Amino acid sequence: MVRDLIFKNRRYRRFFQEEPVSLETLRELVDLARFSPSARNAQPLRFILSNEPKNNALIFKHLAWAGYLKDWAGPEEGERPSAYILIVGDREISPTFGSDHGIASQSILLGAVEKGLGGCIIGSIQRPGLQAALHIPNRYEILLCLALGKPKETVVLEAVGPDGDIKYYRDAAQVHHVPKRSLDDLILN
Ligand SMILES: Cc1cc2nc3c(=O)[nH]c(=O)nc-3n(C[C@H](O)[C@H](O)[C@H](O)COP(=O)(O)O)c2cc1C
Repeated sequence: MVRDLIFKNRRYRRFFQEEPVSLETLRELVDLARFSPSARNAQPLRFILSNEPKNNALIFKHLAWAGYLKDWAGPEEGERPSAYILIVGDREISPTFGSDHGIASQSILLGAVEKGLGGCIIGSIQRPGLQAALHIPNRYEILLCLALGKPKETVVLEAVGPDGDIKYYRDAAQVHHVPKRSLDDLILN
């Protein structure tokens, strides 16, 4: 079951934007992060929830999508995320946040998949602009943004070919392909 969930937990970048994600759902997802591992159990992460069109639009314009898809600037209006969870770190608790936000992201996204949702981890964020736009105090460092919604695209995994190219791509039918390295390539001994 965990394997199935991890398989289904792909990065989705096009959504049924009109399908709302409730604040209650977002809170349930953050609750999964709450029970996830944290270095020194410091629990320095904080979460900013957004599910209203105006706030979503504000967040959207500070994000960069799918760097390998050079001819695609990101989801169009109508296919944008219905919600976001912005992960920030509280500098008053810890000067660095290690792997906590990566682990929290995976917990949240696995929970989203279980609920029939999907999302994308966005690390490419115009941080100063977003910090100002959302009036986030300097005490909090923007770490990652999770874009969420009901996925409107098909994502398939495939083996990395002999050329070793790991770049994801879209085919003529707009199916998103993600090459993954083989297990033997990953395990060194
Ligand atoms: C830390 C991190 C940052 C990422 N940042 C971005 C990003 O800024 N924009 C984006 O479109 N995808 C981003 N991604 C998604 C990756 O491109 C995606 O995970 C990768 O293509 C593999 O696809 P998969 O997650 O479906 O296996 C990020 C993923 C991670 C783990």
